[in-house]
Amino acid sequence: MMLLRRFFSTTHRTNVKVSVLGAAGGIGQPLALLLKLNPLVTELYLYDIVPHTPGVGADISHIDTNSYTKAAKGPEEVAEALCGAELVVIPAGVPRKPGMTRDDLFDTNASIVRDLMEFVCKFCPKAVITIVTNPVNSCLPIAAQVMKKNKVFDPNRLIGVTTLDIVRSSTFVASIKGMDPTKLKIPVVCGHSGETIVPLISHCKPKVDLSKDEIVCVIKRIQNAGTEVVKAKAGAGSATLSMAYSGARFVGAVLRGMTGESNVIECSMVAHDYCGLNYFAGPLLLGKNGVEKKFGLPDEISDFENELVKIALPILKKNIKRGEDFDNCGS
Ligand code: NAD
Ligand code: LMR
Repeated sequence: MMLLRRFFSTTHRTNVKVSVLGAAGGIGQPLALLLKLNPLVTELYLYDIVPHTPGVGADISHIDTNSYTKAAKGPEEVAEALCGAELVVIPAGVPRKPGMTRDDLFDTNASIVRDLMEFVCKFCPKAVITIVTNPVNSCLPIAAQVMKKNKVFDPNRLIGVTTLDIVRSSTFVASIKGMDPTKLKIPVVCGHSGETIVPLISHCKPKVDLSKDEIVCVIKRIQNAGTEVVKAKAGAGSATLSMAYSGARFVGAVLRGMTGESNVIECSMVAHDYCGLNYFAGPLLLGKNGVEKKFGLPDEISDFENELVKIALPILKKNIKRGEDFDNCGS
């Protein structure tokens, strides 16, 4: 049946299979919903290990958009979920509870990411992989190590998703000035956790006029926004809906680049030999093969932003090393 769809579909230029790993979770479900609404996705596979995974797949598959949707449950069905996938999104893993840092998730999530990446290397080694699982600063290097071990590492096809920081920056800065957040673009660099999140308000487009106090205050809020949600959810997890929106936006941008749109730029974290680190979050040009260009830091940033970057780099370096040193890769 899928083969017939491929031959007779006239509405899509290419066949794009997207697989979500961890699709029955708090992020996975709304993310799957948003991807089901994206006309660039022609096949959507929802993979998870929980018993209700087929139910999530059945539910989504009733939506009348032009894509084939299927659920896959457990390792015995993972091959079907991944074979032929061009883009894989990984939100599998546990979220924070109040009082925890993202680093506290490492012990559980590192092995989840490692094991899923083994499947990815085996079944769709050429796909673009986007990692949502925390701690992103360490899970991205873990994913890279698995790909290196399997000799399929392509630094332009592996991305740690930091879009939620960009989304929050627009929302919070716009709210100070009473502006439309959809019209504001603020690059966020370095990494994704606490002080490694460095919004570059001086590069906001269009320019916004904020006092030093407003800048200090809004940056603090952006850096702590994940914790703000964790506290408010009072033990029921972390950001899911805003993350699903951010994940769908980032995946949408990758797909637009892959299907030929030019000048698609979004910030996220990639392997980048930059500022003495092996990984760095910054603006990326997305194209047919994933990441086409990494811009890093703009030439000129404010003195305050420079101080923030100086604080972020050693923390980020430590987070990255923890991922690189995760010594059970593939064992
Ligand atoms: P959740 O617990 O609601 O969902 C996680 C899902 O992953 C569950 O359905 C679970 O069954 C599944 N899972 C676990 N191990 C798996 C495996 N081996 N294979 C397949 N599926 C597996 O959690 P959530 O709220 O969706 O958050 C998921 C992750 O995303 C967390 O680590 C969280 O910290 C992270 N997160 C990242 C960002 C970001 O900005 N990058 C934002 C929010 C949350
Ligand atoms: C976020 O920024 O909301 C996520 O990284 C989840 C978390 O634990 O804060």
